[in-house]
Amino acid sequence: MRRLVSETRVHPSELVLPLFVREGATEPTAIGSMPGVMHHTLDSLKRAATDAADAGVGGVMLFGVPLVRDATGSQASAPEGILNVATEALVAEVGDALVVQTDLCLDEFTDHGHCGVLDERGAVDNDATLERYVDMALSQANAGSAILGLSGMMDGQVDAVRAALDEEGFIDTAILAYSAKYASAFYGPFREAVDSQLQGDRRTYQLDPGNRREGMRESTLDMSEGADIVMVKPAGSYLDVLADVAAMSDIPVWAYQVSGEYAMIEAAAANGWIDRRRAIEESLVSIRRAGADAVLTYWATEAAGWLK
Ligand code: PBG
Repeated sequence: MRRLVSETRVHPSELVLPLFVREGATEPTAIGSMPGVMHHTLDSLKRAATDAADAGVGGVMLFGVPLVRDATGSQASAPEGILNVATEALVAEVGDALVVQTDLCLDEFTDHGHCGVLDERGAVDNDATLERYVDMALSQANAGSAILGLSGMMDGQVDAVRAALDEEGFIDTAILAYSAKYASAFYGPFREAVDSQLQGDRRTYQLDPGNRREGMRESTLDMSEGADIVMVKPAGSYLDVLADVAAMSDIPVWAYQVSGEYAMIEAAAANGWIDRRRAIEESLVSIRRAGADAVLTYWATEAAGWLK
């Protein structure tokens, strides 16, 4: 009876697995703050993506960790840069079985760790950054990425990238806009995962956690600029924002269950303080219930196995 009247289900195809690939790695290594998540080599990356595909996961979101960083994040758009090389390899390996997507942001590639290039005062220069995002977008589309995940929170980024993609003939490359992305402490473990060089914080371009209307405003702007999908991030602490955006959106709305959300449940479970599987399933069903059409989660493959 409960199954028959259940209002919300999570299906494996609505899950997206974030994956980290590290340039020059000869073997996969564990990420201390995210037990169970790895820095992949190109080979182990392909295996992880194949496992995800076999479990029925809908897509993967790829992050690159480069060997060399500089002020403009030049490796982000270099055709031989790790993210672009890995994208090509994944598309060849699993491109028919799931959707290969790429993070489009400079923070992993800059030596100062910000999501954009800096002006002479050391502040992020919005419009100069857009030019770098356009370079990145074209190199990722060229490498075969099906969906570009614009996570940098620069104003006008969707418009700039869409125009450049169309001009170069990448009319089928979709844009996932991280629209309501909050300046969150829950990204902490991720920053270890990408060896972030960040000093300070991202509050000049990410949203203030107290601002609910602003999440809606950012989403509306991205829709009008041509986003194909909008995202709310983090998920668990922003379910109200997610519900707001889902209620008014006529395009898919996704949510990112971020590294801190993952680490909290894993840490509590490791201490025997929480029922791990029930907590994970409850967190995912809650994000779906609030209105997410799909969820980025580090548990995607494992959860898909349970849900099958
Ligand atoms: C930016 C980006 C971040 C995350 C995804 N894309 C980090 C940030 O804004 O600091 C965080 C993901 C997570 O915490 O799981 N490239």
